[in-house]
Amino acid sequence: MKPENRMSHNESTAPTPVPSLPCVSRRQFVIHGSLATVAILLAGCVSGGPTSPGSVSLTLTVSDYPALANVGGVAYVTSGNNPLAVVRTGSDTFDVVSRICPHAGGTVNSNGNGFTCPVHGARFADSGTWAGGQPTSNLTSYSAQYDAGTGILTIG
Ligand code: FES
Repeated sequence: MKPENRMSHNESTAPTPVPSLPCVSRRQFVIHGSLATVAILLAGCVSGGPTSPGSVSLTLTVSDYPALANVGGVAYVTSGNNPLAVVRTGSDTFDVVSRICPHAGGTVNSNGNGFTCPVHGARFADSGTWAGGQPTSNLTSYSAQYDAGTGILTIG
C-alpha cells in the first residue's frame, strides 16, 4: 500500500487562530520609532563610540620617528583603533592627542600649527584644545613621559 500524503478526514482544516496584537497608531509608531533611534544614537556616544576614544598604553622610541627630531614635529601613531598624533613641544616634552574629532568622529590632520578636521572644519591647538571652526569639545589628550636617557616616550 502507498503512503498517504493527503490530509485525513479527521484533521482539521480550520485556520490557526492568530493572537490579537495591540493596535498602534501611525503617530505612536513614529514617536516610538524616533525615540528608539535617539536611544541607539546616544548609546554610540558612550565610551567606545566613534567620538569617544578609549584609554591608551603605548611606548615608542622617539628616534624611530624622524618627524619628531625637531620641536614642532608631528608623528601619527595608532593604539588599537585610536589614531594618535604625537607633537614634540620641547626637547623633552610632547603632547599626545587622539585624532578622532569629538564632533562626529572625523580624523583630524596636522595643519602645521595644530589640527583641522576635514569633515566640518573644527580646528584644534597642538594640545588638543578646540581653537575654532565647528564648535565642539577638545580632542582627547593623553599624558606622555619622555625618558631622555633611553629616548623612550611612554603614553597613557
Ligand atoms: S566631524 Fe570634525 S568637525 Fe565635524
